[in-house]
Amino acid sequence: MQLWTVNLNTPDWQNAPEAPGVCAALSAGGLVAVPTETVYGLAADATNGKACAKIFEAKGRPQFNPLISHVPSLEEARVHGRFDALALRLAEAFWPGPLTLVVPKNEASPISDMATAGLTTVALRVPAGPVMRFLAERTGRPLAAPSANLSGKISPTLAKDVIDDLGAALSFVVDAGPCTVGIESTIVGIVDGTPRLLRPGGISREDIEDVLGTKLLAASPDMRPDAPAAPGMFASHYAPNASLTLNAQEVGPEDALLSFGPEPIPGAEHAQAEFNLSPDGDLAEAAASLFQGLRTLDASGAGIIRAQFIPSFGLGEAINDRLKRAAAPRP
Ligand code: TXA
Ligand code: MG
Repeated sequence: MQLWTVNLNTPDWQNAPEAPGVCAALSAGGLVAVPTETVYGLAADATNGKACAKIFEAKGRPQFNPLISHVPSLEEARVHGRFDALALRLAEAFWPGPLTLVVPKNEASPISDMATAGLTTVALRVPAGPVMRFLAERTGRPLAAPSANLSGKISPTLAKDVIDDLGAALSFVVDAGPCTVGIESTIVGIVDGTPRLLRPGGISREDIEDVLGTKLLAASPDMRPDAPAAPGMFASHYAPNASLTLNAQEVGPEDALLSFGPEPIPGAEHAQAEFNLSPDGDLAEAAASLFQGLRTLDASGAGIIRAQFIPSFGLGEAINDRLKRAAAPRP
């Protein structure tokens, strides 16, 4: 595995000597860890079925769970998917940014069935993080990239997290520092003219509904390839090694505390470890630090992580979605 450390504040980072090697690795079907504004992605050429198969293998991910393809522009996205008026409006409002759109796949799109899990729809995103856009543009290929963690485990927001989990499977890791949003993209499906929220994420439901002028409906079961089989059960995902409980009212000396806001809960000062997602109670800050908080508390060795209540509006909906899945019974 080779490392490319990118300083996005230098104007000519794209001309670094590592750039051609990273592009060549992708074009040859290799796996490259690439940062986006949400989380680090495990990227491969989406048009190369074998390369996409390596993603599933490295993550231990079930092959029925399709991948998001990252493209440099809306224009390029329209090569692969059919955008109706509402899908176009969302793309124009939020791209580049943490929004993924699931739309009908164009017959002519070269994105492989391995990336879409054989579905007639395709998940597309133009990320704000410039490294993924640059690599998609320079290689001339859509880049399939799930989060660069082992399937079911905590998502990575630092290059170090990726190297810990997946280092051996990678040709390159691109390190551009911490991800600013810190939680995965919001996924909206617009397949039959009706916008549906498939996954809450880095753009709030409220902001999307403002642009649409209508409410987002819930996902229909056929649009959630990774959905739990039984309604009301959360599939386990984002799981730390410790067990996780939600809405903590107090915390014991052997427990770790994932806190939020300025008010300590009873026992907080004696907890084995504490990580405050946002002492000011700011939901964007909490989203950005969520996965590092879980990783840090897991490393404390505590058997139980207790998470404090987090309100469910704005980015709180996505934070609570991740916490509920992290707390769900493990397979
Ligand atoms: O922020 C993100 O979205 C990150 C970065 C790397 O872009 N990626 C990410 O990918 O979170 P992943 O694979 O962890 O999650 C992709 C989700 C999965 O839940 C998958 O089921 C869903 O997107 N998905 C992909 N294609 C789909 C499709 N055609 N229909 C419905 N859901 C789809
Ligand atoms: Mg993931």
